[in-house]
Amino acid sequence: MSELSADGVSVAFAGLKALSEVSLQLRSGQILGLIGPNGAGKTTLVNVLTGFQAPTSGAVLLDGASLTGLAAHEVRRRGVARTFQGGRLFRDLPVIDNLEVTGLGLGLSRAAAIREAGEMLDWIGISALADRIAGTLPYTDERRVAIGRALMRAPDFLLLDEPAAGMSPQEARDLSDLIRRIARERGCGVLLIEHNVGLVLGVCDHIVVLDSGAVIETGPPAAIRASERVRHAYMGTAADTGLPVQEALV
Ligand SMILES: Nc1ncnc2c1ncn2[C@@H]1O[C@H](COP(=O)(O)OP(=O)(O)O)[C@@H](O)[C@H]1O
Ligand SMILES: [Mg+2]
Repeated sequence: MSELSADGVSVAFAGLKALSEVSLQLRSGQILGLIGPNGAGKTTLVNVLTGFQAPTSGAVLLDGASLTGLAAHEVRRRGVARTFQGGRLFRDLPVIDNLEVTGLGLGLSRAAAIREAGEMLDWIGISALADRIAGTLPYTDERRVAIGRALMRAPDFLLLDEPAAGMSPQEARDLSDLIRRIARERGCGVLLIEHNVGLVLGVCDHIVVLDSGAVIETGPPAAIRASERVRHAYMGTAADTGLPVQEALV
């Protein structure tokens, strides 16, 4: 059992407090939701947890040991992986090579990287896409490739930044199934950022709600649904959630 945590993390960008004293804990096998309106600080928190952004104050801990200040590739080597809002695949390379390159970067030999990349595509159920050029894939397939790439070398934690953006309801359900498998079958702790509040409430064990850089609520889905503070934070942003607020939260 492993634990990744943010401990009192604050980030200031030239006068703007993007995060104020944010703490959260993610354990092996857990699916933790991170929601909040646009600009709440969700991506900034993932950037801090993965070494892409240094906190102004506070710490990131993995099993109690500090990751604060480590470069992103060092954090990844310690088993904390992520996907990006908007993909970031090597668009000119075949799908299989996208995974292989990550395996090589994480220290595998060429043969081992190719073998693991193939096994990963198979595990996700997208082996048929192996030789397709990544930049030509439909959006939803691209997302699954990005998740496969993040799972190379079996990280203990996977942080997903809006993986369902632009998906149809059926595609979002398929993604939910994949996220559950990642937690159950691989024992991975998953942090799920999503605009689609309905998806988060359906798949997560526990949810943290950010608004204007601060945690305004935490709890299981039922508590988040019932929260006046959450309802208030989302007021007027129904279009952003992909679901009517009433339907998403009631
Ligand atoms: N590199 C940056 N420089 C300046 N401001 C930033 C930077 N990154 C994010 N911000 C600001 O920090 C706030 C939080 O942004 P972000 O973490 O992207 O929110 P979210 O992912 O919840 O939409 C926003 O006001 C955003 O404009
Ligand atoms: Mg974001």
